[in-house]
Amino acid sequence: MKRTVLTLLALLLLVPAVADEGMWLPSLISNRIRDMRAKGFRLTAEDIYSINKASMKDAVVLFGGGCTGELVSPEGLLLTNHHCGYDAIQSHSSVEHDYLTHGFWARTRAEELPNADLNVKFLVRMEEVTDRIAAGETSEEIVRKAEAEGKGYKAAVEQMYYGNQQFLFLYEQFDDVRLVAAPPSSIGKFGGDTDNWIWPRHTGDFSVFRIYAGPDNEPAAYSPDNVPYRPRRHFTISTKGVKEGDFTMIYGFPGNTQQYILSDAVKYIAEISDPMKIAIRTHRLETISAAQESDPALRIHYAAKHATIANAWKKWQGEVLGINRLGTYEKKAAAEKRFAEATGDAEAVELLREEIERALPYYYTRELLAETLLTLAYSYTEEEKADPLFAKREAVECDLYRLAFEEYAARNTRLEPIEEFRAGIERYGTPAAYADRIFELAVADPKAEELTALKKGIASLHTRIIEELGTRSLRNFNSARINELYARYVEGLRRWAIAEKRDGAMFPDANLTLRVAYGSVAGYEYADGEYHTPQTTLDGIIAKDNPAIYDYDIPQALRDLHATKEYGRWGVEIDGRRTVPVCFLATNHTTGGNSGSPILNARGELIGINFDRTWRSTMSDIEFDPTICRNIAVDIRYVLMVIDRIGGASYLLDEMTLR
Ligand code: ARG
Ligand code: GLU
Repeated sequence: MKRTVLTLLALLLLVPAVADEGMWLPSLISNRIRDMRAKGFRLTAEDIYSINKASMKDAVVLFGGGCTGELVSPEGLLLTNHHCGYDAIQSHSSVEHDYLTHGFWARTRAEELPNADLNVKFLVRMEEVTDRIAAGETSEEIVRKAEAEGKGYKAAVEQMYYGNQQFLFLYEQFDDVRLVAAPPSSIGKFGGDTDNWIWPRHTGDFSVFRIYAGPDNEPAAYSPDNVPYRPRRHFTISTKGVKEGDFTMIYGFPGNTQQYILSDAVKYIAEISDPMKIAIRTHRLETISAAQESDPALRIHYAAKHATIANAWKKWQGEVLGINRLGTYEKKAAAEKRFAEATGDAEAVELLREEIERALPYYYTRELLAETLLTLAYSYTEEEKADPLFAKREAVECDLYRLAFEEYAARNTRLEPIEEFRAGIERYGTPAAYADRIFELAVADPKAEELTALKKGIASLHTRIIEELGTRSLRNFNSARINELYARYVEGLRRWAIAEKRDGAMFPDANLTLRVAYGSVAGYEYADGEYHTPQTTLDGIIAKDNPAIYDYDIPQALRDLHATKEYGRWGVEIDGRRTVPVCFLATNHTTGGNSGSPILNARGELIGINFDRTWRSTMSDIEFDPTICRNIAVDIRYVLMVIDRIGGASYLLDEMTLR
């Protein structure tokens, strides 16, 4: 008896740590449920995803096409990140009502603010359609039939494993989504770009919206007569708190991963693509930051632009470090050799290698264009030019033109330069002088022959590249042929894995479809001898607080709260001190698009909102390292505390279900 237990234990230890890697399709979650339950999950596969009864999927939405949100009340109240609601918050902000700076709290339903360009999508169901497509039905037919099933239905056929499987995703889309509340940016964006991708973290990255529906509870265009949507499900919120080791699950819409790419593609990312994009963005950010520091109005004007450029810029730096640290290239190259030996299909890898080499100059040039010449406006509206700020902006914009022209000229090493561009440089002597001329025209005479010619030149190069690659997608290093070959290679990988009984670990790459990731609350060893614990608190905010540093200047109300320690129901005891929890770390496999995702405990209750990964996790889109990859969530208790004590909006808590 004792012996069997020991053997079992030994076996368990020998099983390679697939740990918490993976973003699983909810309709197939029954394949993972034993593992989830072994790790502490208390519910069933049907609780996560069901087409017969209300399930957790009915409380999760694709928010605005790039983030995730979750329902937290029977009256359509929804939580997402502050950085996901940012556009909406900004669009309602003006000098008189600066909701970005001061926050926004609708005191009545009538004060909730509609957003013309915002929608949310619920997943009605997902269904494999590989056989239907093999039998001759087209994706368009499948989509059309599905969309006819209900009001506001939107469908898409998505590829899994590079097209080895196709799935229909049917969504119900709501277009009347109103802003209910947002904390001041000094909470919602606390730490700004300085702390972005970093732990320890203290950002209250949340905002609150409400979905409205027609009187029949179905999707309807905005109307004052619409009523709060009554969802099939909303999450119960746990205020009990989390501790290291607790089970966690993330339910959301991860955007894009590339777990199965060839070593050659990894090399391209780490040695060519990321370094090129990082270097160009470093210069753009220097220019923009200098302008922002020179003038408060410019700081605001370029805030969103700076944040967007800096976000990927910082991520790529972590990604390169991570790929090199893990030796991802070498590991993949070795695995490709083993693949060829085990499956006998060396050709699958060889053909891919050849096609990657053929496509590289085109893909590289597309990326270069996207970071340089395609970032420029080439014309300005009369309204923009009439803005008193425009005079100040001109110098900055002109610098950005020069930078783009210089970088394109210097780095365009793979294809012939655009003929008009080459001629322009010859005419004006240097890329900078040519940039000055084009900028001048963009402001004064955007229809001028010289400018139109350049735009045409850029467009025709772009078209040629798309033709050569056979795909419009710039998401990953792809061509139509690379995709086809990956389908063969990944199918080979899958068969090989099945033969070796490792197939349980193969999940389809993220592609902005609904996924489940699970793991646990956990700190990690950041550096030799330096352990990062998984929970931050208000004390950490106070320690960073500095009115002289924009990113760390907190609202007085938060200082006062800390001074009096009158946290009420939101206070906790941590290591003998009274404080408020702020953010926590967990081991869930997440990526961009998982922002705003609910992070849930073993009972499926909401414990936080996901919003980031740590610096050393950023290569997890390519290789996930369970010892170090961590997602970052804002603790739901901090969210509730800010709503209650900073926003004075406890009426919102009244419609939530707190436990
Ligand atoms: N890094 C997070 C995500 O990739 C948060 C980005 C928004 N925050 C910021 N400081 N720019 O998108
Ligand atoms: N902040 C990211 C987002 O906007 C999530 C962080 C990540 O990439 O994991 O989706």
